[in-house]
Amino acid sequence: MTYENLLVAEENGIIIVTVNRPQALNALNAGTFSDLKQLFGTDIAGRKDIKGVIITGAGEKAFIAGADISEFLKLDVASAAQLSKRGHDIFLLIERFHKPVVAAVNGFALGGGCELAMACHLRIAGEKAKFGQPEVNLGIIPGYGGSQRLIQYIGKTKAMELLLTADMIGAEDALRLGLVNHVVPAGQEVAKATEIIEKIATKGPVAIQKTIAAVNAFFELGGQAGFDFEVTAFGDTAGTEDFKEGASAFLEKRKPEFKGN
Ligand code: COA
Repeated sequence: MTYENLLVAEENGIIIVTVNRPQALNALNAGTFSDLKQLFGTDIAGRKDIKGVIITGAGEKAFIAGADISEFLKLDVASAAQLSKRGHDIFLLIERFHKPVVAAVNGFALGGGCELAMACHLRIAGEKAKFGQPEVNLGIIPGYGGSQRLIQYIGKTKAMELLLTADMIGAEDALRLGLVNHVVPAGQEVAKATEIIEKIATKGPVAIQKTIAAVNAFFELGGQAGFDFEVTAFGDTAGTEDFKEGASAFLEKRKPEFKGN
């Protein structure tokens, strides 16, 4: 596994991904998108043995300061729409990943950076983190799901304001609005993300995978189809050895030993 702009490490079953373009505040260029596709779509796509993935940014200043604006000027209507669709597809690989993916937001999470964080299942913000969708400053709109996911997290009222004004918000406001799960002191983002992934790793792996899919179904399918998805997924989890083990362990007052099947 070699990547142009990602540092990828594995620590105790957790994949730690660092977007590594600090000279451009880790802006997402074409090469970084290719790396993310290679990683989530191929290299770790089938890995049941890992506990989860953490995504963070290199340096102390930025998580990711957006899409790489230097690649924007050559875009026309058709190629911009293609770029947006490619970004959507790659972020969906993250949102639909079978293990928890946690954004450890250590600084600016703007534009595509905020959008990438929102495609993750959970978000930990360092106290210096800043979030925003400043695309209208450039005369465009978010292209990697921001106009849709921001509403899912913080509601139409505040999402509309942030999208129209391009205002940035700090970590505490992001917590208050429901955009992030926790705020931690600067430098503790990855440690907190690790702690949460370790906790999730003690649960039934199939149940975790199905929970992620069921929550996504609310947004992807909606209405009765989301409830129908839950019915099927509930049946699927009840058919696993892990469910027998989990229920037996509870009744026998012991810790379950899940095997992932
Ligand atoms: N794309 C390409 N390069 C970027 C970038 C982006 N999204 N964000 C920052 N950079 C580059 C800057 O051009 C600069 O490069 P240089 O040193 O070669 O001049 C370097 O990263 C440092 O950024 P700088 O603007 O000097 O840092 P700052 O502390 O003054 O400001 C920000 C930080 C995040 C407020 C500012 O960089 C910014 O507004 N970035 C763009 C955010 C944005 O609009 N994102 C959405 C894109 S759709």
